[in-house]
Amino acid sequence: MSEIGVFEFKGKRYEFPVEIGTENEISIDIKTLRGTTGGIITMDPGFKNTGSCKSEITFLDGEKGILRHRGYAIEDLTKKASFLEVAYLIIFGELPTKEQFAKFEGDIKKKSLLNEEIKDILDGFPRSAHPMGVVSSLTGALTAFHPKYTDVHSEEEIYNAITNILGKFPVIAAWAHAKNEGTPFNYADNSLGYVENMLMMMYKIPTTKYKTNPVVLKAMEELLILHQDHEQNCSTSTVRLVGSSHASLFASVSAGISALWGPLHGGANKAVIEMLEEIIEDGGDVEKFINKAKDKKDPFRLMGFGHRVYKNFDPRALIIKESADAVLADLGVTDPTLKVAKHLEEVALSDPYFVDRKLFPNVDFYSGIIYRALGIPVEMFTVMFAIGRLPGWIAQWKEMRKNNEPIGRPRQLYMGAPKRDFKEVSER
Ligand code: CMC
Repeated sequence: MSEIGVFEFKGKRYEFPVEIGTENEISIDIKTLRGTTGGIITMDPGFKNTGSCKSEITFLDGEKGILRHRGYAIEDLTKKASFLEVAYLIIFGELPTKEQFAKFEGDIKKKSLLNEEIKDILDGFPRSAHPMGVVSSLTGALTAFHPKYTDVHSEEEIYNAITNILGKFPVIAAWAHAKNEGTPFNYADNSLGYVENMLMMMYKIPTTKYKTNPVVLKAMEELLILHQDHEQNCSTSTVRLVGSSHASLFASVSAGISALWGPLHGGANKAVIEMLEEIIEDGGDVEKFINKAKDKKDPFRLMGFGHRVYKNFDPRALIIKESADAVLADLGVTDPTLKVAKHLEEVALSDPYFVDRKLFPNVDFYSGIIYRALGIPVEMFTVMFAIGRLPGWIAQWKEMRKNNEPIGRPRQLYMGAPKRDFKEVSER
């Protein structure tokens, strides 16, 4: 901490410490700003320039298109590790030994049974209920079924909450899907791996013997790893903010799921497929939609394009684009949306509007095409994102608790009416 940041206002000079991160990122620590200046605050809607925490989990360089978890490149993790190994790494800080992994996996499997009364809650939802709403509600409902695991001061109960939510979340997701489909609710099979189990619970029907397709399994494992963590994005910040009030892991993750649902965040994977289908139905004129996206009077945005942090290719999109080709070829699927997506990308990347604003395809641009090829219905796309992101939410919540971060409570600039006198209704 050798440098200082200086702020001058009305002839007075204020100094603030500068802190440098592992990868030379620079931050000005303004914790004392209000106190020393007599109430001045910073204004940063959308937190575009505001660091909310120090974190050891994920490093992301948006200019260079780099993504690393705990120092390991995302490219290595997707190719060389399993989903649960990466989850362990993200949550506990190191890749697990064989023994650590066996215990972690075993503890998760022991917790994969949902209370049967959860079916009563599911009964109360309409069949058409969006699975993100159902999954968020049922995750919050875990607080009622497992009140012990809501003790945020006990390391043991936090570990139990972590293994519980990891064990139960894929079951909740599969049951939300079954509710939509009107199919029976499946239970976990502890002889299967985490991702294989999740696929089995989603697809098994009593009349047919379920068999995992290795191509589908590999693609799904890779896709879910790619989604595990992405530092302080909207849903993760939500999880940390809710958790900062000492709310339980279940309650915090439930809020994170709601944040992920929106089309500017995780909901974009669904919105991309809908946009590609709309382009095809409209006759396939890609340029027309590019022009709509550029038109400031038109609310339409090119879904799956642009990112708050990446001002270069999203490294996850590069991996997914490669795997979309491979998966479709392996499964023998021809999907016209892939052709339109590639054309759209080509046109956008040579258009000054997108080039000047550094708008590149993001993780959601190709993921929906793979999900669809794997037979996952559009409504479930964002739920798949949530299954992938769960370890990241857990890791960030755990880090926030470990660092005993203060309750999140931003300030505001009041722009409303000044003090005025109350008028009785007869005088208004
Ligand atoms: N289509 C057309 N114009 C865009 C787009 C887009 N997809 N994204 C950004 N812009 C324009 C925007 O209009 C603005 O233009 P100007 O400077 O002329 O006003 C400029 O680019 C900067 O955009 P911004 O909205 O200030 O950027 P942001 O960092 O606040 O928003 C974003 C980032 C991801 C919300 C935005 O790019 C977007 O809405 N993209 C489409 C939705 C999407 O794909 N979301 C998934 C994000 S990645 C996965 C995830 O987080 O879940």
